[in-house]
Amino acid sequence: SKSTNEISKVRNLSQIQIGQHLVEPWYFSPYPVEFTEEDTIYICEFCLSFFATERVFARHRQKCTLLHPPGNEIYRDDAASFFEVDGRRQRTWARNLSLLSKLFLDHKTVYSDVDPFLFYCMCTRDAFGCHLVGYFSKEKGSPDGYNVACILTLPQYQRSGYGRLLIEFSYTLSKREGKQGSPEKPLSDLGLLSYRAYWQETVVDALLETKGEVTVDELAQRMAMTPADVLHTLLSLNALKFYKGQHVICLTDAVIAQKEKQKEKQRVKGKRCIFPEKLIWKP
Ligand code: ACO
Ligand code: ZN
Repeated sequence: SKSTNEISKVRNLSQIQIGQHLVEPWYFSPYPVEFTEEDTIYICEFCLSFFATERVFARHRQKCTLLHPPGNEIYRDDAASFFEVDGRRQRTWARNLSLLSKLFLDHKTVYSDVDPFLFYCMCTRDAFGCHLVGYFSKEKGSPDGYNVACILTLPQYQRSGYGRLLIEFSYTLSKREGKQGSPEKPLSDLGLLSYRAYWQETVVDALLETKGEVTVDELAQRMAMTPADVLHTLLSLNALKFYKGQHVICLTDAVIAQKEKQKEKQRVKGKRCIFPEKLIWKP
């Protein structure tokens, strides 16, 4: 039997409209109760304010001047921009973002205290502004060495490679900081799938680039990953061999063949990546 607390945590919104998209929420999010009785709630894609009726929303859109997340653009390439938003300076915006993302995150509590976090927001640009595609939050100083607290691609943009870019960006920041990071635990199922895919790809790439011997610690440092994440990835790739009384790192033929297939797929689809030299940012 469920406690009343758990029962109140079932999905409470039927539909949201954001930008050009109608999206069905996945999970409970603590929007004010008066909003949960509406068929649709309207969210301004720039300031993330929410409205119960189309009329009030339309009035807001005429007044709203925001065209991108309220922070510095710290990265820009042909495909995307990243804005760094400080939770303490942009409390309302950050709380609105947390409410919105909670609709798609089951295992996280919404912190109304957004002050300790920075929000790295990925946008695509067009003539109408910078459209939020996804983001990750990061604690200003994580005692556990986490480089990501929450990560999300808005559902209308999922499965297009944006999550991978967000993850790559989080490690690009860690490299710039000279730190080794890992995402906050526990990971969701989708989070785990995405991280595993990223870790496997980068570890295999690093090994293929390496001439001669390399240690777990060296690999971890080069990729700004923790030694534990590198070790788990090597084990999952079956890449740790015991040879002449020592552990050696060595890719199996199956993994190398798989890599060739993946490269071909990426050649066809066009692979996006983060260009570290375009990151204008100091820790
Ligand atoms: N099924 C199977 N594999 C998947 C799926 C899926 N639904 N989603 C991602 N993957 C794997 C695939 O290997 C994929 O590569 P491929 O498409 O070439 O096969 C790889 O992950 C990367 O996929 P992306 O398209 O780059 O990821 P996406 O933009 O969809 O974002 C994310 C991934 C952020 C986890 C997204 O699913 C999401 O926002 N989910 C809801 C929120 C969530 O669970 N966040 C993580 C919580 S944990 C934390 O915050 C630390
Ligand atoms: Zn607005």
